[in-house]
Amino acid sequence: MVVKAIILSLSPAFACIPYLKVFSMSLLFSSYTLASPRGDLTLANRIVVAPMCQYSAVQGAATDWHLMHWGNLFNSGSGLFIIEATAVMPEGRITPACLGLWDDTTEAALKDKLERARALAPALPVFIQLSHAGRKASSSTPWQGGQLLAEDQGGWAICGPSDIPQLPNERTPHAMSKAELEATIDAFVVAAGRADRIGIDGIELHSAHGYLLHQFLSPIANQRTDEYGGSFENRIRFPLDLFQAVRAAYSGVLGLRLSASDWLEGGWTPEESAAFAVRLKAAGANFIHVSSGGISRQQQIAIGPDYQVPFAKDIKAQSGLPTIAVGLITSPLQAEAILERGDADLVALARAFLYKPRWAWEAAAALKGEVLASEQYWRCLPAEAQAVFGSVRIGQR
Ligand SMILES: Cc1cc2nc3c(=O)[nH]c(=O)nc-3n(C[C@H](O)[C@H](O)[C@H](O)COP(=O)(O)O)c2cc1C
Repeated sequence: MVVKAIILSLSPAFACIPYLKVFSMSLLFSSYTLASPRGDLTLANRIVVAPMCQYSAVQGAATDWHLMHWGNLFNSGSGLFIIEATAVMPEGRITPACLGLWDDTTEAALKDKLERARALAPALPVFIQLSHAGRKASSSTPWQGGQLLAEDQGGWAICGPSDIPQLPNERTPHAMSKAELEATIDAFVVAAGRADRIGIDGIELHSAHGYLLHQFLSPIANQRTDEYGGSFENRIRFPLDLFQAVRAAYSGVLGLRLSASDWLEGGWTPEESAAFAVRLKAAGANFIHVSSGGISRQQQIAIGPDYQVPFAKDIKAQSGLPTIAVGLITSPLQAEAILERGDADLVALARAFLYKPRWAWEAAAALKGEVLASEQYWRCLPAEAQAVFGSVRIGQR
């Protein structure tokens, strides 16, 4: 309104052009600044490539698949890319092929592929999702069926908050001791330091989709009787302690991905999620990424476009944290509407980017936004999308 008033107070001859420009500007293609103790990080637009496991690492080390995948999606026009769930210790991998960051070898591989992928694309901030799979570790890859692997099939002993398996017929995880919880926190802290050292711009702790931190939050997986189980305060204790330890050691942008609901009677609830987000904010979180589900096959998810957005809206309203919405957001207008309603600050997409790696270019064409693109691709724009790369010019003779 202030902008509108200022422009209208100018003479009509000057007013019409800026007025149109201001009011046709898409929120999705406006910049967004995430704060951190180290300083501000500004994203060129509000589109996030959500973390997506590639199950293509060797002993945790990134491979040429990652080079191709990151190089491709760093050229997507998004404002932020989040690297897949990355295990902080070998036994925290979901599958034997999951990415890791637990020693010098995995750090060097990640650094090498990341640097080379970055050299192939316009600059954009890259975050990493640090993870421990807990009782969902030691699984086969999705294309091999995703089932729990026995130790003689390349699997390993699994752990969790309680000795409750994910599925009733599966082998039982062992309930983690206090010493194991401390070692896990240490592993997250060390991995955060490694990520920082290789130039990663921010960290997302994985506390969603039924993995270790979510297992502690949820009464479905956590039936401990010590100070880490039972009440809300006790169930958030380990994830919050872990968050605080990483926060104390790492001054870059730090947030957490949460499953806002277990979609299950007796499970973790949206109300608990909002209360946890308030605590995270007080502990120094810079953002929250709101997903849902994954703790149990019994979940009853009301799936559809925007189905997780109301959780993001509620968490944002109650905690005031910068919030990323995700889940079946597929069209530019849908993404723009989420931001216009103020339900979230950023919008993440996963599958849509695998299907259409240039999704953000098409969104820019639809919403009159602009993206940065590699020079090699400047000649591609169809007639209806000529302004998508801004004022770039190419010549030939
Ligand atoms: C191939 C694939 C891998 C995924 N890996 C991760 C992951 O590493 N970490 C995570 O939190 N979510 C992961 N997800 C979930 C996505 O980040 C996202 O939350 C989910 O797909 C819903 O968003 P969408 O409807 O835009 O795909 C994965 C999804 C896909 C399709």
